[in-house]
Formats: sequence, structure tokens, C-alpha cells
Amino acid sequence: MGQGVLSPGFARVDGTLHADGVSLEQVAHAVGTPAYVYSLGRIREQYRRLESALAAAMPDVPHRLHYSVKANSNLAVLRTLQECGAGVDIVSAGELFRAREAGFGGADIVFSGVGKTAAALALALEAPGLFVNVESEGELRLLDEVARARDVVAPVALRINPEVTVESPHEYIRTGEKGHKFGIPYDDAEHVALLAHALPNVRLVGLDMHIGSQIAAWDPYAAAIGRVTPLIAALRAAGVDTLRWLDLGGGLAVTYDDEAPADVERFAAGVAEAVRGLGLALVFEPGRFLVAESGVLLARVLYRKRSGGKEYVITDAGMNDLVRPSHYHAYHRIEPVHAPHGTIVADVVGPVCESGDFLALERAMPDAQPGDLLAVFTAGAYGFVMSSNYNSRPRPTEVVVDGDRFAVATERERLEDLVRLERAHLQWRSA
Ligand code: LLP
Repeated sequence: MGQGVLSPGFARVDGTLHADGVSLEQVAHAVGTPAYVYSLGRIREQYRRLESALAAAMPDVPHRLHYSVKANSNLAVLRTLQECGAGVDIVSAGELFRAREAGFGGADIVFSGVGKTAAALALALEAPGLFVNVESEGELRLLDEVARARDVVAPVALRINPEVTVESPHEYIRTGEKGHKFGIPYDDAEHVALLAHALPNVRLVGLDMHIGSQIAAWDPYAAAIGRVTPLIAALRAAGVDTLRWLDLGGGLAVTYDDEAPADVERFAAGVAEAVRGLGLALVFEPGRFLVAESGVLLARVLYRKRSGGKEYVITDAGMNDLVRPSHYHAYHRIEPVHAPHGTIVADVVGPVCESGDFLALERAMPDAQPGDLLAVFTAGAYGFVMSSNYNSRPRPTEVVVDGDRFAVATERERLEDLVRLERAHLQWRSA
């Protein structure tokens, strides 16, 4: 990293933190705080890094990156990835709506998720080409019925739970171990696949897996692919000749603190080796890897307080804006926007009325005084999308930076928005 660079795309210029060519102080001045700021250039770079590693490792294997919308579903982010050539992975009717708004067509979309409703499946079938990652026998039968009612045949991939051990920093983000709610239990997979093959209004076009998130090592992927390939062979031997896709899910890790990120060249080489000769096109569903490092959350220090021998920095951003620290005990690096002066050890906490409302605990960090601006790093994934209105706090604004320009991508919610859907006059219905 060059001098002054804190994370690719973020550097100090004359002491002030910039996202690409834009001063974060200027952004905060223009839009207020808390504010999410995303560098579109960083997103494009991450996309190209992963895409070129895959293309180099397996020039003969067709593949596509289907960005996992749940990581950051802002339309400006979706459009940026669409321009890069990505498809999307969605998990709800809401994400389907966003994907369409951003310009993604049916064949650009894979529809994942463990609890899809009949209504969401019906909506998905309006977009021909989209394939559905089915996670249970019940869902498969429902999809067959929904497709029959519309007189169409739905392309289906079965999400298999490969039941492998996954090293990831928090148990909530492991999804491919035995007994997890996700996917079809490994021992049932062949039976459900043969059912999919037999049902008239679904076509079994692929198999799918997603083993967890923030995975830096290659081994769990290798183990999981190693479980799925014999299944492909067994299905082909049983006469299934419709398989075209293998969806390997997402999960590639990024750096929050000083941990190693996923080695994309190693990953690409491993995948190339593991799928050699399978004759299937590949789908990847990265979320965090593409967007996490593009984003910071800007917050302003409101107060300092000392209590019970502890130092507190109280900011205007809280757990409702960024829940990862309190929900997963996740580490997010915090830097002052202006050149640091001295160091402290403090809990950085928000204004929400919960003891669990913090951005950092016992953090050795640059001194931060009331009025100072802080940037919370690696907030581009699972940040704004997991925000809430708890304590009736309007959700923050989202800003995108492109080179030396910036634009508001999502307006800050206004107080009136908080009650917009609530009825001033109740219309009682008799029981
Ligand atoms: N595909 C499926 C089916 C998924 O469930 C997920 C994430 C992804 C792809 C994308 O995974 P990624 O590449 O972003 O690791 N809120 C948590 C992360 C939850 C991930 C849920 N599923 C966090 O803040 O760490």
C-alpha cells in the first residue's frame, strides 16, 4: 500500500481521509452523519480481480459471477455490477424487484433462499430464464405446482448441504454443516434430485451449494465440491441428462482487521481442478468480497464520557445503523477523518438505549473528541442492508463516490418516513 493509504481506495490527502478523489469531510458536510459512503471504483476492481482470476484459471469453463444482492442492495451498487457484467443472486421478492429495477433480466438472476413463498415463486416465474435454487422437497413440490398453474417449466438447481466443517469467524455465518437449516440434507439429495427429474413442471438444471461466509481457506470449498461431484455422477448414471450448472455459492473472505483475505488465485485454481471434466457451467454468488471494502460508515463524535474507569466515545451512529459489531462481535476498523492526535483505549458506542449498542469495545484507537468525524471501515457489506429504525432513528443516507465525484444514492430517511405506513385513523373491523 502507498503512503497514506489505509485500505485500497481510502487514503489521507493532507491529513484528511478521502474515498478515491473525494474528501470524506466534504461528504459529511454535504449530507450529514451517519452516512454510508461507497467507492464504485473499488467495487469494479474487486469484480475484475475475481473475474480475471477465474477466467485465467479455467478459460474453457463457462462461468458467471452472480452478485449476492443481500450484501448491499443499493440500486447504484447493483447498476455498477451490472455494467461490469455480473448477474445476481437474490433471496426474496424484494430483491427480485430491486434486481429488475437495476436492469437485470431473467437469465441474469438466480433465486436462492430457504423460505420462499408461493407468491415470490410465482413472481420469479414471470422472469423467464431465471433458475431457482430449491432448498427442500416441500419447496420443490410447491414450485412444480406454481409453475403448472402458470403453464411453464421452472429451471431448478438443488441446494445441497454438503455437510462439511467450515472455519468462519462466527457460528451465525456457517451454513454448510450437518443439521443446518440450509439446503437439502446430503443423504436425501439423490432422492430429491430424482423427484425433480420426474416432476413435470420443473427441470433439474443444476446443483448448488453455499457453505458460509467470510471463508479465507480453500479447504472447505474443496471438501464441499468433493461431496457434490459424486452426486452428479450418480444422477447422470440414473439417467438425468439435464444438468448444466454448478452453483458454488459465495463466502470469500475480506480483511476487517489484519486477517488474511481469500486468496482468489488459489480459489480459482482449486475450483478449476475440482470441476475439471464435469462439463457444467459455473455460477458464483459472492457478496461481501465485491462490496465490503468499498464502504465506510461516517459518524460524528457527540460526547466523551468516563465511567467506572472506562473511556467512552459516544457517536451519532449506533447498532441500528451498523449491527455487525453487536450481532457478531465483528471487528470494524475505526479511523478519524482528520489526522489523528494521540491515542486512547475506549468503547465506541452509539446513542441506542441498549448496553449492546457499540461499534468497538476496548479499542486502542486515535483520540476522538466531540465534533470529530470517524470512518468505520469495511462497512460496504451487511451494513446499510441490516440497518433498522430501532429507537425511531431514521436510517442513514447512502453516498456513492466515482473518481472525484460523489452523489447521494439513498436519501436519509426523514422523521415523517418513520410513521408513513402507520394509520392516523384506525379502521376497526368487527370480529
Ligand atoms: N449465497 C447465499 C445462498 C448466501 O446465503 C450468501 C450469504 C451469499 C451467497 C453471499 O455470501 P458472501 O459472499 O457475502 O459471504 N450478515 C452476515 C453475513 C450473512 C451471509 C448470509 N448469506 C455478516 O454480516 O457477516
